[in-house]
Amino acid sequence: MSVVLVGMSVSDVDRRDRLLEAAQGRDGSVAFLQLADPSLSAELTRLADGGATTITLVGIDTGPLAPGHSWLRRIAAHWWRERSGRRPTIEVATALATTIDDIDALLRTTQPITGGEPGLTSEAWEQVTGHRHQVLVCRGPRCTAKGQVDNLRALVLALTQHHLGDDDLLLIHTGCQFPCNQAPVISVQPDDVWYGRVDPATATRIVREHFVGGSPVETHRLPRSR
Ligand code: FES
Repeated sequence: MSVVLVGMSVSDVDRRDRLLEAAQGRDGSVAFLQLADPSLSAELTRLADGGATTITLVGIDTGPLAPGHSWLRRIAAHWWRERSGRRPTIEVATALATTIDDIDALLRTTQPITGGEPGLTSEAWEQVTGHRHQVLVCRGPRCTAKGQVDNLRALVLALTQHHLGDDDLLLIHTGCQFPCNQAPVISVQPDDVWYGRVDPATATRIVREHFVGGSPVETHRLPRSR
């Protein structure tokens, strides 16, 4: 049996070394559902081409904004349906691991992919949402090292508290946005407002004052070079 630990969110990409260590301890490997390589599909192909007959997936969710567990099954099922040639059995743990310590218990709770799982499209995802703002959260190396994940947590919590969702604003992870000396950086479009040295308290203020109140948080606003 081949075990693959699948990082579900960008926070799990940040913790790649920890995931690799946990995978190696179980004679397994690591893949990511989004934002990093190897993708889950690429890792399944690699293992299947190498002769694996059973592949067991455990989704890892150690940070904010991970997609739901069903996405692990959907992506795995999509690969399985599209796979030409010999297909291994794919088992998927029935819940996401929120800590490394959860993994071994979850490995005993798997269910196989049948091919009957939902596909990658839905009527609900046909249209561009009506969001007013795009909130670009820098996940470049400097911003990540200076605590952006904590800001993201605060941002998501405040958005939830103020009942703001995808129809209000779109939260987007980006690579380096360039004013790295001001890390962690968050920018807001189309307002062209850039925030620097953001901490969790500031992230909460950005939601309350900027997105709800309509006034940017001037104390953390960065000047724009023209
Ligand atoms: S790493 Fe965030 S602005 Fe450069």
